Amino acid sequence: MEKRSDPLALLISGRGSNLSAIIDAISDGRLRARIAIVISNRPDAAGLERARATGLETRVMPHTAHATRDDYDRALVAELERHRVRLVCLAGFMRRLGPAFCDAFPHAILNIHPSLLPAFPGMHAPRQALDHGVKVTGVTVHFGTPELDAGPIVMQAAVPVHDDDTEDSLAARILVTEHRVYPEAIQRVLDGGWRIEGRRVVFSPRV
Ligand code: GRF
Repeated sequence: MEKRSDPLALLISGRGSNLSAIIDAISDGRLRARIAIVISNRPDAAGLERARATGLETRVMPHTAHATRDDYDRALVAELERHRVRLVCLAGFMRRLGPAFCDAFPHAILNIHPSLLPAFPGMHAPRQALDHGVKVTGVTVHFGTPELDAGPIVMQAAVPVHDDDTEDSLAARILVTEHRVYPEAIQRVLDGGWRIEGRRVVFSPRV
């Protein structure tokens, strides 16, 4: 039987380098999935260009067109259900998602964050890491919940902080690891064989 190709949605707001990494991972076979839809809440998101150039279906859905967070969430859910997506991957999507969204996709929303959560949630994680003086920071892929950067953790990877780092140099080093880890984490979630115990995502041993 042919291996199924799970439909993903990618939600972006900007540069889209993680989107690009996921596109590349699919094209070179590291990630067995297909991108059913790319949604941006910003019309000027650079990531839309890469998506269009790759021939992916894109939609711009500005949050400003909706009176409340709930209305926006429901519009997103309707669009994602239309595409029957299995997993929603947030890739630099700069909008908090409310219960209306999260309840529609239980344990089917992933987010990537540029720190070892629960350290340094929210904006400017590399700057927070430098300001705090940590020697190691990293990358976290976690399930999306209405609470910011707080859902069960799927995968993490460490990134060293160098003494001469600036916010930009550290963010760039973290980003290289993001691009490796996100496709891998998506594949692990798609492969199944995991369960949630409390806050923990527990993977069964691979056979
Ligand atoms: C990444 O650092 C990601 O961890 C964070 O937002 C940034 C998005 O970058 N959530 P890009 O748009 O994927 O290049």
